[in-house]
Amino acid sequence: MNPLAPRPTIGVFDSGFGGLTVLKELVALIPGADYLYFGDTARLPYGSKSVETVARYAVEATHFLERQGANLLVIACNTATALALDQITGAVHVPVIGVVEPGAEQASAASKNRRVVVIGTEATVSSHAYLKALQRRAIEAREKACPLLVPLVEEGWVEHAVTEQVARIYLQDAFGDGFQGADVLVLGCTHYPLIKPLLRRVAPPHVSIVDSAHSTAYAVSGKIAEICVSSAQGPAGQPTLRFFATDSAEKFRRMGPNFLGHPVDSVEHVDLKE
Ligand code: DGL
Repeated sequence: MNPLAPRPTIGVFDSGFGGLTVLKELVALIPGADYLYFGDTARLPYGSKSVETVARYAVEATHFLERQGANLLVIACNTATALALDQITGAVHVPVIGVVEPGAEQASAASKNRRVVVIGTEATVSSHAYLKALQRRAIEAREKACPLLVPLVEEGWVEHAVTEQVARIYLQDAFGDGFQGADVLVLGCTHYPLIKPLLRRVAPPHVSIVDSAHSTAYAVSGKIAEICVSSAQGPAGQPTLRFFATDSAEKFRRMGPNFLGHPVDSVEHVDLKE
């Protein structure tokens, strides 16, 4: 980033709508920035795809954000971070922050028992990115894929008996069988902050919940303070937000507010040629 730039332009990349939970945290913590959000809605979900496919999609999307003027990139998608952070970082010319390291860092700070459960997509869990990041911090981790939670959240069933039952089954498994002592649950997927109250009820009461969206916003704020000429409070002013979606702009406008918590305007459709 140009250190004399008065405001950062932060490109936020996700496979679809879920990364808006990360954008929400970013805007709350760093209001004085211009945000470009890219949701690859035509190609979601990433959580069931291979490393090669996710890396190719993610590099195309982040190149787009860089061309639009992003001088800092946030990979809001846990799956894309877990599978392709190195490829993305190697392919662009601006600093890149993913969600796994900040989430692992906060989990490490929160865990007294040094045992942590991470929930995420099939692909995130298979990559063991969180497991490795936590092991580097001397934490024993158990990862649990929860593939049914993303479609349930997209259905809007954030306070639904079916979602609660599904979450209960996943978490009983994750915290069972010798892992009862785990004292932190990491939400390793963009969609899970929406069901945080439900997960709070279902998780063992002694467990604290770490939301990687929240941790990532703090990591981005730290990076901006490091590379920006502005004061430690970060750049001043109101945020501006532009949204790009590879599927219907109308659908993005309709679904987006569920994740962002306020209306989503100025959505542009983008056709990324492969
Ligand atoms: N954004 C993805 C993640 O955080 C969830 C949705 C998907 O599978 O594309 O892992």
